[in-house]
Amino acid sequence: MSPSSPPPARRTWDRLRELAEITAPGDGVSRDGYSAYERLAQDLVGAWMRDAGLSVTRDHAGNLRGRVAGRDPLLPAVWVGSHLDSVPGGGRFDGAYGVVGGLAAVEAATGGETPLRSIELVAFACEEGARFGTGLLGSRGLVEGWADVDVDALVDRDGVSLRAALASVGLDAEAVRAPSLTPGSVHCFVELHVEQGPVLDTAAATIGVVSAIAAPTYLRVRFEGAAGHAGTTPMVGRRDALVGAAEAILEVERAARSYDGAAVSTVGFLAVHPNSANVIPGSVTFSVDVRALDADTKRRLVEEIAAGLQRTAQARSLQLSVATLADLAPVACHPPIQGAVRDAATSLGLPWLDMPSGAYHDAMAMSRVCPVGMVFVPSARGLSHVAEEWTSPDDLEHGVDVLAEVLRTLASTTGIEGAG
Ligand code: GLV
Ligand code: MN
Ligand code: MN
Repeated sequence: MSPSSPPPARRTWDRLRELAEITAPGDGVSRDGYSAYERLAQDLVGAWMRDAGLSVTRDHAGNLRGRVAGRDPLLPAVWVGSHLDSVPGGGRFDGAYGVVGGLAAVEAATGGETPLRSIELVAFACEEGARFGTGLLGSRGLVEGWADVDVDALVDRDGVSLRAALASVGLDAEAVRAPSLTPGSVHCFVELHVEQGPVLDTAAATIGVVSAIAAPTYLRVRFEGAAGHAGTTPMVGRRDALVGAAEAILEVERAARSYDGAAVSTVGFLAVHPNSANVIPGSVTFSVDVRALDADTKRRLVEEIAAGLQRTAQARSLQLSVATLADLAPVACHPPIQGAVRDAATSLGLPWLDMPSGAYHDAMAMSRVCPVGMVFVPSARGLSHVAEEWTSPDDLEHGVDVLAEVLRTLASTTGIEGAG
C-alpha cells in the first residue's frame, strides 16, 4: 500500500461507491449477469486484484478469479468471494461487498507471512435470479456444470437467451456443460455478505455467524387463454389469462402465509401478452420463487402452489404450463467454519449472533465441492434488493477484519476440523 492509499476498509467503501457507477440507467445499481455492465465491473475489480498482486483469470463460466499462492501450492486452496451482478435497481453492497471486502481481507491475511494454503478470491457471474429466472449460474457452472440447464430456453425480459448473453461477453455456453471443480479440490469457501434482512440491525449485533442457507425453487408459469376485444367480448365465457394469474398469485401468497414464517413465496416477474389496454390478455408468464430452510417444507409448499395453479387453470379454462427452472437444496454451514467466525468476532470484541440466511448465496453452490461458511454484517432497516440498501463504513470494516482473521485461520492449517 502506498503512503497516500486509504486504509483497506476505507478503500472498500470507496471501491463500492466506484463500482456502483457501473450500472444501467435508473435508480440504484442495475448490473445484469453476463452483461457488458457485469463485464466492466469485473474489469475494474480485476485491475484492483492485479494491483494487490493476485494472479487473475476469467474462467469458462465467466467468473473472475484471483489467486495468492500459498507456501504449499499443491494443497487445495481456501476460496473466498461473492458476485458482481445485481437485481434491477438494487443496492451497491449485495455481492459486491463480498468481492471488494473479500479482496481487502485477502490482502490483510496475506500481507505479512505467506499462508500455508493458497487463497482464491472469486467474483461469481450471474448470481442473481433476476435476469434468467434462476440464479447462481456462474457458481453452479463451476461445481456442477449446466448439463441440465437449457441455455436456449432460458431467456431474459428482452428475450435474450442465456446462450446469447454468454456469447455477448465472449463465452461459449457449451463449455459450461461440464463442471471444472470436483469435491475435495477446494479446501473450503467463505463468503462475506450484507445480511439483507433485519436480524442484526434489530439486535444491534455486528457480525452474523451464518448457520444455514435457505434454498429457492424457481418456477416459470404460463397461463394461456384467449385474447379478444376488450369492448365487444361478453364478460361471460372470457378466458382472460391475467385474471387467472391474479387469482393464482393471491393463492401463492396465501399458501406461504400458512407456514407461519417457515417458508416464503414471491411472484416478482410478470409478462402479459399482448399487454394492451384494450385487448383481453391472451397469455401471461410469471415467476414463482419459493424458499425455506427445510427441504420437506419447501417441497410441500411447492406442491400446494402447483395444485393451486391447476385449480385456477381448470376453473378458468386456461392452459397451464409450469417449468421448474431450479430446485435447490438448503445448505448447512460447516460447524468448524462457524466456530472460526465466532472466534474471530470474539477476539475483535464484536457482538455476534448465530443466524440462518433467508437469501441464497454462491456459498450454496460451492457446498457441492467443499465445506462452506458465511460472515454477515448488518443491513440498515433490513433493506436489500432495493436502491436504499445500506451498511455503515464501520460495519463494512468489521466484516473485513473478521474475514481476514478467518482466512488466516483456515489458510494456515492442514484441516479445518479443529477450528472453533
Ligand atoms: C439472491 O440474491 C437471492 O435472491 O436470495
Ligand atoms: Mn448477494
Ligand atoms: Mn441479491
